[in-house]
Amino acid sequence: MKVLILPDAQAAIQRAADIIARTVIAKPDAVLGLATGGTMLPLYKALAQRHRDEGLSFAKTTSFNLDEYIGLAPDHPCSYHHYMQEAFFAHVDIDPARAHLPKGDAPDPQAASLDYEALIEAAGGIDLQLLGIGQNGHIGFNEPTASLGSRTRIKTLTDSTRRANQRYFASFEETPRYAITTGVATILSSRKCLLVATGEDKAEAVANMVEGPVSAACPASALQFHARATIILDEAAASALKLTDYYENVHPQGQDSIFD
Ligand code: F6R
Repeated sequence: MKVLILPDAQAAIQRAADIIARTVIAKPDAVLGLATGGTMLPLYKALAQRHRDEGLSFAKTTSFNLDEYIGLAPDHPCSYHHYMQEAFFAHVDIDPARAHLPKGDAPDPQAASLDYEALIEAAGGIDLQLLGIGQNGHIGFNEPTASLGSRTRIKTLTDSTRRANQRYFASFEETPRYAITTGVATILSSRKCLLVATGEDKAEAVANMVEGPVSAACPASALQFHARATIILDEAAASALKLTDYYENVHPQGQDSIFD
């Protein structure tokens, strides 16, 4: 794991934007795995700004989002389809026909999950998977105890995840219970992973992911098995790590190093 610690959230977001931009410039038809959530909002803003100011183009990319709530139509204001449209797709030149999310409103969500996994495979797999992390250590909606060998499927959300996401809905009761999410093994099949975490409320989950044992109790810890996983943190999200001196020594100011 490459652990890059940046002084604050803004610097962490710019560092993540650099890596995504570099990927897309090197491979204009890259397949991107995308995430939603509060952490990603400034990142999508930064990418949209680079599109506007520097001509960073997503025209040939294909994207697959990690997850979508079951029961929400794409035009529902709380759906991840809607989030992606508002936060990113509407501000860049990505081809809507190649911007994929799981179909949360499919009549058969289980079949839709299998189709989604097949679609990722047909696209040649994901070049760069962008990830956030839940306070409980989830990636995508792979909640604690999710199989580390899982593929795209339906997951029941924990109450803690529903509480964290309740801010987007009218009440806890209205916050969906189920989602389609790509699995831990789907995520690990990506050629590169880029996880971004900011803020002190992520510190414990980050420490479990990076320095804890690999365990389904913290699904993000499965990234320890990934040969090309980069973790971008601000100082607050890194505050519970024990080996901070080492990470800062290898990657001063979160910069690349020849030897990781
Ligand atoms: C969203 C997703 C989740 C979030 C995580 C962090 O597509 O897959 O794993 O990345 O819940 O969310 P925020 O950034 O809102 O704390």
